Amino acid sequence: MRKSLTLLSLCLPLLAKEPLLTFDNQPMGTIERPLVLRSYLPDPGLEDAVFPQHDTARKVSKYNPGPGSDVPGEILPVPGLAAAIGVNFGPALSFVFDTTEARLMYAWQGGFVDMTPYWGDVQKGSRVSFDYVPRLVGTMFFKAAGKDPIELGGKSISDLGPRVFTGYKLDKGVPVFAFSAGETRFTLALTPSDKPLSCDLVLTSSSDAPLTWRGVEGASGKGKLSFTLSGTEIAKFQGYQRDNKITKASAEAGEKLFGQYGCAACHSIDGSKSHGPSVGGLAGHKVEIEGLDQPVVADTAYLLESIKSPNAKVVKGYPPNYMPPFGLPDVEYDSLILYIQSLAQPE
Ligand code: HEC
Repeated sequence: MRKSLTLLSLCLPLLAKEPLLTFDNQPMGTIERPLVLRSYLPDPGLEDAVFPQHDTARKVSKYNPGPGSDVPGEILPVPGLAAAIGVNFGPALSFVFDTTEARLMYAWQGGFVDMTPYWGDVQKGSRVSFDYVPRLVGTMFFKAAGKDPIELGGKSISDLGPRVFTGYKLDKGVPVFAFSAGETRFTLALTPSDKPLSCDLVLTSSSDAPLTWRGVEGASGKGKLSFTLSGTEIAKFQGYQRDNKITKASAEAGEKLFGQYGCAACHSIDGSKSHGPSVGGLAGHKVEIEGLDQPVVADTAYLLESIKSPNAKVVKGYPPNYMPPFGLPDVEYDSLILYIQSLAQPE
C-alpha cells in the first residue's frame, strides 16, 4: 500500500507552503475578489418544490471496463447539487446559485465550505473517508422554498416557462448570473451587505412589466431592482467533523485549531482589525461590550463564552450574529484559549 501513493498525495505536502487555491480545504474569496467555485455543493434540506427542472437521480449498476460489462453492485447518486455554483466573498457572504433551476438556492455568512472529505488533510495528503460533497461552514440566513421569489407582472417566474441559465460574467470580479424565463431575460448579482445575516441584490429584467422579489418590502419596480435581502438564522454549520485526537490542551494545539476552524479568516493575531477584533494582546485586557457601561476583562471565562456563544457579549463596533458559535470538545476550547492567552502582550 505504501508504494501506491497517488500523485495528489505526493503534491499536497509540497504545495502546502505555497498559497493554496484548488487544494485548500477551506477556499475563501474576499470582498474585492470573490471566489467562484464549480463543485458539488451541499443540499441543506431543500424541498422538492425548488427542483421542478431536475430529474430524479437513480441508482446505476457498476460497470467493469475490463470485460466491458456490468458487474453486481450499484453506484449511488452523489447527494449534492451537481450543477450549482458557489460564490464566496470571505466570511461576509457565500451563496449557491443552481444552474439547472437558474435560481438562488441558499446564502450564508461566517465561512464558506470545508472540502476536507474531498481533498483529505492538506498537511498529510491523506483522508479518512471520501465524499464529493463539501460541508458548509457558517450561518445560513436564506434558503429557497416554493416557487421562485422573482415575480414579473405579479406572477412567479416559475410559471413563465422553462428557466434557462445562460452563463455568468464578472463585473469588477462580482459574478452576474444571466438566465431567462419564457421570453424574458434576467440578471442577478449578490454582494455582501453591511447588515448582519443579509446581502445586497441587483436584479434586472428585459421586460417592462412590474418586477418584484416576493416577501421583501420595497423590492418592486420595473427593469431593475436593488434591495437588501435580510434573513434570520436558519441553520449553523461547522464543516467537517474532525477527530483531532488532542488528549491534553495546549497552545500549540490551539494554534492549529485556530487555522483549521477558520478563526484566522476573521481574527488577526497582530492587533490589526479584521472582520472581528484581533485576538493578539486580548487576553487579560479590558473589552468594551455593546450595551454594557463597564468594560469586561478578557479572562478565561470570557474567552470561553466568546467562542461558545459569541452573541452573549458582543464587542463594541462589531456586528452580532457574524461569528458562528463553535460547539467543540472541551479540550479544543481549552487549547484555543491557551493559544489566545499565549498571544497576550504584557504592556
Ligand atoms: C465569520 C467571522 C468570525 C469567525 C470565523 C470567528 N470569529 Fe470570533 N468574532 C467575530 C466577530 C465579528 C467578533 C466580535 C463580535 C462578537 O463579540 O461576537 C468576534 C469575537 C470573538 C472573541 C472576543 C473578542 C474580543 O475582543 O473580546 C473571541 C475570543 C473570538 N471571537 C474567538 C474566535 C475563535 C477562537 C474562533 C474560531 C474557533 C472565531 N472567533 C471565529 C468574528 C468571527
